[in-house]
Amino acid sequence: MRNFTSVNDLLSVSDKDISNAIDIMVKKALSYKADPFMDQSLGKNKRIGCLFLNPSMRTRLSTEIAASNLGMQSIIFNVGAEGWALEFEEEAIMSGTTVEHVKDAAPIFGKYFDIIAIRTFPSLKNKDDDYSELYIKQFIKYAGIPVVSLESATLHPLQSFTDIITIQEQLQKQVSASHKPKIVLTWAPHVKPLPQCVANSFSQWINAWGKADFVITHPEDYELSEEFTKGATITYNQDEALQNADFVYVKNWSTFKDYGKIYESDPKWMLNNKKISITNNARVMHCLPVRRNVELSDEILDGPNSIVTSQAGNRVWAAQAILAEILKNK
Ligand code: CP
Repeated sequence: MRNFTSVNDLLSVSDKDISNAIDIMVKKALSYKADPFMDQSLGKNKRIGCLFLNPSMRTRLSTEIAASNLGMQSIIFNVGAEGWALEFEEEAIMSGTTVEHVKDAAPIFGKYFDIIAIRTFPSLKNKDDDYSELYIKQFIKYAGIPVVSLESATLHPLQSFTDIITIQEQLQKQVSASHKPKIVLTWAPHVKPLPQCVANSFSQWINAWGKADFVITHPEDYELSEEFTKGATITYNQDEALQNADFVYVKNWSTFKDYGKIYESDPKWMLNNKKISITNNARVMHCLPVRRNVELSDEILDGPNSIVTSQAGNRVWAAQAILAEILKNK
């Protein structure tokens, strides 16, 4: 693996198919969970630069811990808050607010680091710009070293890899592990427009894995891009979707078609214990941070069905497995 920006980058780890590649990488991540320091020499004398154009808690800390477990040094650079404002457009006339072109900055990161990891967010103003993934593509083009996405304009692959690790880990704990799980991605209310990244990425990974009945439920007009959801059952009826669910993934996203809008904030979409009673005692997941009693109720987050804390804990093993795979191939 050279870069990691979506599930498709896993193809290089299996000569069979993407589903097999996911299973191989999940096994690898869980082996790091069992023995975090077994590959301490892999990252010796290597350095990762983690560039943040946006805030983060879990992604930043888990990536630093993963790098440290592999014996690798990490340097965090909050580009958005502390660095020069970067320009990403080719042939830009830089007479506005941007100070340094990515064409000049990225090769320098390439000299300082062995891997760079970068977090960007979408503007939510221009769909074509956001879905072109210009920021991460420009880093790949100009850095000359492997690039890892810590969340891009449209995808959050380390989060989704974590989510599949968490689902497989839960399935291994169940007596009836052999049954095909029903996984539901449900839209939840929020107070401001959020990116589609987590929902896009979760859909992309669950579809690529192909070992679940996958249902997406959201209000009308909240359809995600078919590029990621194709293969899933999509319904506007949340109660119908939740029936017999084994896992419920809760997430807000803004509209995709009429881009970046909030049309709906009906609290009836928020998951509570009554809704959980329709499920197969489903485990409830969320990538965090979460707005309590807006996106998810206290009774769910503080109750026995929530696995959000162990899910966030697994971010370390996902990052470690990906960094190890890149280091192995360097
Ligand atoms: N889930 C996630 O990416 O969390 P952070 O924004 O805190 O990194």
